[in-house]
Amino acid sequence: MVTRWSLDHFTSLSDQLLGNGATPQELQALLGESAPESGRPFAEVLGRFQKQIIPFAYKTNHPRFLAFVPGGPAFPSVLGDWLCSAANFFCGVWLEASGPTQVELTVLDWFKEWVGYPSEARGILTSGGSEANLTALVTARERVPFADRRRMVLYVSDQRHWSIDRAAKVIGLHPDRIQAISSGPDLKFHVPALLQQIEIDRREGHLPWAVIANAGATNTGTVDPMNDLADLCAREKLWLHVDAAYGWAAILTPEGKRELAGIERADSITLDPHKWLSQTFEAGCLLVRNGPLLEEAFSMRPDYLQDVTPRDGEINFADHGIALTRRFLALKIWMSVQVLGKAWFRDLADRCLRLAAYAQARLEKADCFEIMHPRNLSIVCFRFRSTAVDETQWDRLNEALVQELRDSRRAFLSTTRIRNQVALRMCFINWRTTTGDIDEIVALLREIGQKIAERET
Ligand SMILES: Cc1ncc(COP(=O)(O)O)c(C=O)c1O
Repeated sequence: MVTRWSLDHFTSLSDQLLGNGATPQELQALLGESAPESGRPFAEVLGRFQKQIIPFAYKTNHPRFLAFVPGGPAFPSVLGDWLCSAANFFCGVWLEASGPTQVELTVLDWFKEWVGYPSEARGILTSGGSEANLTALVTARERVPFADRRRMVLYVSDQRHWSIDRAAKVIGLHPDRIQAISSGPDLKFHVPALLQQIEIDRREGHLPWAVIANAGATNTGTVDPMNDLADLCAREKLWLHVDAAYGWAAILTPEGKRELAGIERADSITLDPHKWLSQTFEAGCLLVRNGPLLEEAFSMRPDYLQDVTPRDGEINFADHGIALTRRFLALKIWMSVQVLGKAWFRDLADRCLRLAAYAQARLEKADCFEIMHPRNLSIVCFRFRSTAVDETQWDRLNEALVQELRDSRRAFLSTTRIRNQVALRMCFINWRTTTGDIDEIVALLREIGQKIAERET
């Protein structure tokens, strides 16, 4: 039954509507209940899943879900996830799962090679980019003597992902010790401004500690100047962490390689296979250039785990991160790459770059849109414009437009702000999305936008 449902869902997804929301009251009425004392037939429970849960979610794997950073797993990843759950291997220590641990090491070796990291680099698969960013900050913080930690300053761009702020909060960094450097008009890290701030902070007795760069900012897809930041961090002895959670897979393509050049000089890199590498949620990853630092930061040896002390060459992934009990996350990635081949992922990354360029060209041609930030990697930001409506009302117009687009259940986009104005975003990472989907979305946006503009006049 589950296999049938999964296959039907997977094969018919492109023809389905996007989904629906509901109010907390409606869902509490439908699903809020005490735990049943006795069990029910599985078919009945599956029926409730289909009728009462599935309709109240948006399908982030749908080819016309281009909001935030979408999903879009390949089928071998779904199967790998299934097998991971069925086997339930404990992937925290070598003693309990040497085979799965070796597969994780192999997958990490692939990623190290793709980003240009040396073999002594190490890493860990995580639940996602947020956990990877947190793991990076802990690793970088552990190098600072306790006495100096109150003086540490973290430098970020105003285009960072908010998981960085939360990671900083979790490690106890005072909010005043996060210096957000305003980006330039290209929305990239402004390196001269960063240097100036570092000098000010040193003069004031603070301890410049780490810099977070974007390799594919969530907002606009921009990539910060990696080599300039790496030069500065080497000179100033700062830890450079690159948050490439969204953008990293582009490195498989010639354009991405050019854009991300210098990423291999970072001290640590976050990359999310559950974004642009077609994996089911959850699959994130952190790589650390100076590998042994990971173990120095996280390894602990309580008495009740004395049996799992690794012997020569063995790795306990519980020593590389926050979790002890860990799923065999590498399986779905390993299976996907084995079944589809690396070329499939390179083609996907390349296709998504071209889809974004195509979307920008279509929007420009339609004559009722303004590109708010030219395409970077596979993200395009734009807005609907209408001379019939006063420009001061365009924010409201675009917010209404995105809402009505979602209500159509044919497509789902998200909004952001660029230069303090509301912009719509399209982010392409999904292997299902085609130019036909873009044509449909642009036509819908135009039609709905014009209807709203008429209504307003
Ligand atoms: C650049 C960037 N960093 C970090 C994250 C957080 O990743 P996750 O949602 O996997 O925790 C995201 C998510 O969109 C992101 O785009």
